[in-house]
Amino acid sequence: MTKVQQTQSLAIYPGTFDPITNGHIDIINRGLTLFDKIIVVIAQNPGKEPLFSLEDRKEMIQSCFVDDKRVEIDLVSGLLVEYAARIHARAIIRGLRAVSDFDYEFQLALMNRKLERSVESVFLMPGFRWIYISSSIIKDAARHGGDVQGLVPAHVFQMLRKKFNNR
Ligand code: COA
Repeated sequence: MTKVQQTQSLAIYPGTFDPITNGHIDIINRGLTLFDKIIVVIAQNPGKEPLFSLEDRKEMIQSCFVDDKRVEIDLVSGLLVEYAARIHARAIIRGLRAVSDFDYEFQLALMNRKLERSVESVFLMPGFRWIYISSSIIKDAARHGGDVQGLVPAHVFQMLRKKFNNR
């Protein structure tokens, strides 16, 4: 029998997470079948002005994984690949929902590879029922009083209600 060396495999899952959705959670759970540990990284996308503060976003993610030591959360303000290389992460996980995600993800992955060759990008598909959701579309629906229950964890739903003053 071939002997395989047991080392912990670590991946990072970066994003804005404004807020975390059931689609993100689905990707993290799928990632945990491939990696021993995942660090969910709240990173900066210069094209976005988040609704929730960094602390709120971190707290919302933390509340989803309180009992799971395989998931950690971190905040990163610099280059993502530098962070990944520093902590010896093997991979950057990204979710692919539709063909429309592909162009941007392809560009991001190739640029990340150019910057740091030791880290691979791994793409996972969320479950079919999460294919159409994004943080923006959920915020937009919630802002106008739409019911987004079932698309985000219960505590995130409450945070959205509070933010938009929906009763
Ligand atoms: N379920 C639901 N929504 C999903 C999803 C899933 N499985 N997968 C992606 N999405 C949504 C997100 O909610 C987000 O929606 P939004 O645009 O409405 O907010 C969108 O798809 C993708 O955004 P996100 O995953 O948050 O990533 P991002 O594009 O905002 O993040 C960074 C990009 C942060 C990873 C990138 O800017 C980065 O690496 N920044 C660090 C600085 C750096 O290294 N820059 C150089 C990069 S080459």
